[in-house]
Amino acid sequence: MYELWFKELLHELDAARAAMSAGDAYWAVRYLHRVGAIEGVLVAQVGVLETMRPQDFLVFRSELAPASGFQSVQFRAIEFVSGLRDRSYLERLELNESERAMLERRLVEPSLWDGWGDLVRRHGSPTLQQIAADRDRYGELFEVAEALLDHDEALGLWRFRHVQMVERQLGSKSGTGGSTGASYLRTTIDKKLFPELWALRSAL
Ligand code: HEM
Repeated sequence: MYELWFKELLHELDAARAAMSAGDAYWAVRYLHRVGAIEGVLVAQVGVLETMRPQDFLVFRSELAPASGFQSVQFRAIEFVSGLRDRSYLERLELNESERAMLERRLVEPSLWDGWGDLVRRHGSPTLQQIAADRDRYGELFEVAEALLDHDEALGLWRFRHVQMVERQLGSKSGTGGSTGASYLRTTIDKKLFPELWALRSAL
């Protein structure tokens, strides 16, 4: 079920990036709003898994190994298109040829931030500060930037809910994918997709 949502997310993220590259702020926002709605569903679904008690999870956990969230090719693709391009994750994945080709392509193709760059150029290359300061002129652009930030925030929220759930089920046990488990996952919570958009807040 999660993988189906990941597939839909990738589709919408690609559409948002293409709209930005084509200079179309209206459609970029529409697609990014759908991204946000899907991410809301993903975060809410964590609560369903948390109705499971840790003793009950342990009964089938050994049958999951070596399966792990590390094996989610689509999750890594979502990170890559969003601009988080850590190639070392490729070595942790067991990939068939077409999956490897897909991730290699996503490592080099334009990211959402590249799309944003195209959009801004088509509007005369104002800086983020100028966009924020003149919403009569750049309001549409500012809404795209805010929708990108929504995506960044939602992914962080998912990471946080996931690590809470993991700690609740496993405590400090290590993961079936070979990581240290919750303590590894906690190091990912603060990953930022668009640091420039976060930094803008301090500069306003
Ligand atoms: C009881 C439920 C779950 C437990 C105990 C659990 C546990 C873990 C652990 C320990 C890791 C770290 C990697 C490792 O060593 O295995 C991990 C990573 C991951 N899990 Fe889960 N998980 C659960 C449910 C889910 C669900 C429902 C998803 C759905 C998307 C998911 C997606 C991921 C992803 C994408 C990663 C990689 C995260 C990263 O590297 O940033 N997990 N999980």
